[in-house]
Amino acid sequence: MVLVIAGPSPGSSDIARSIANSLDADLLEVNSKTFPDGERYIRIPTDKIEDNVLIVQTMSQPQNTSIIEALLLADAVSELGASGVGLIAPYMAYSRQDKIFLTGEPISIRVILKSLHSAGYRSLYTIEIHKNESLRWFPGEAYSISPYEYMADRISLPGKVLVLAPDIGALDRARRLAGKLGADYDYLVKHRDRVTGEVKMEPKNIPVKGRTVLIVDDIVSTGGTLAKATKLLYDQGAENVMALVAHALLAGDAVRKLEDAGLVKLYAGNTLPPRNAKFIEYIDLGPLIAEALENS
Ligand code: R5P
Repeated sequence: MVLVIAGPSPGSSDIARSIANSLDADLLEVNSKTFPDGERYIRIPTDKIEDNVLIVQTMSQPQNTSIIEALLLADAVSELGASGVGLIAPYMAYSRQDKIFLTGEPISIRVILKSLHSAGYRSLYTIEIHKNESLRWFPGEAYSISPYEYMADRISLPGKVLVLAPDIGALDRARRLAGKLGADYDYLVKHRDRVTGEVKMEPKNIPVKGRTVLIVDDIVSTGGTLAKATKLLYDQGAENVMALVAHALLAGDAVRKLEDAGLVKLYAGNTLPPRNAKFIEYIDLGPLIAEALENS
């Protein structure tokens, strides 16, 4: 038997329920609070665990708190006698700092994955970890599940579609999604200033006139990449610009930025807590995660 435990980070409860339903497993919610000094307290409300445990704790904002909670949960389940514990972190924070861009930086995702393993997690499941190679830093079994083809079956797109990667690194993602949708694909050329974070897009001749363009990316964070690409595509004659992302972090004023740019629709996985905006539609990835668990 497997017991699914929903961690306290924002967004974990809904996707944990969906995973537990798909697995036909029991679900337990964690009690938590913040002490007056800012430290976190968690408690799993049971006396003993005899099953294998899957903890669902997405690394949502505030990410550092979510990570600490995940570490504390591993210790708590082991004290309760669980025979094995796996972590499902639908969104894995720090995954974009997977190399040293400027001298003196850490490889943040390496630190996080090693720490999760040291805390007691023996397996790790996440959705689209930015770069699959990062998983080598988790010394146990680790899986990054690609959600794009699954999501493609659950969206509707008007007219003739072009799938677009916002940078060349995402081209393979666009090619696979376009294959699934029977659409053409292309990519933009993006540069990010590593100090200011500012995004620049090179003008490029892409056949978008009168078409629906679906931008596919792993993460929308500040919305800078998507908003810039959306404006550029409308300037080049696109009819509708839509986007599909695995993780909608939507930090700061990202929602307003995307609305102002005229993004018609944002399809996002439910790996992070939902934001209330008419143009955002969330796709439940719980069944996809459950399927990956059953097949691993
Ligand atoms: C970058 O490598 C990622 O794939 C995304 O394009 C990026 O994280 C999006 O960030 P933002 O929304 O802040 O432009």
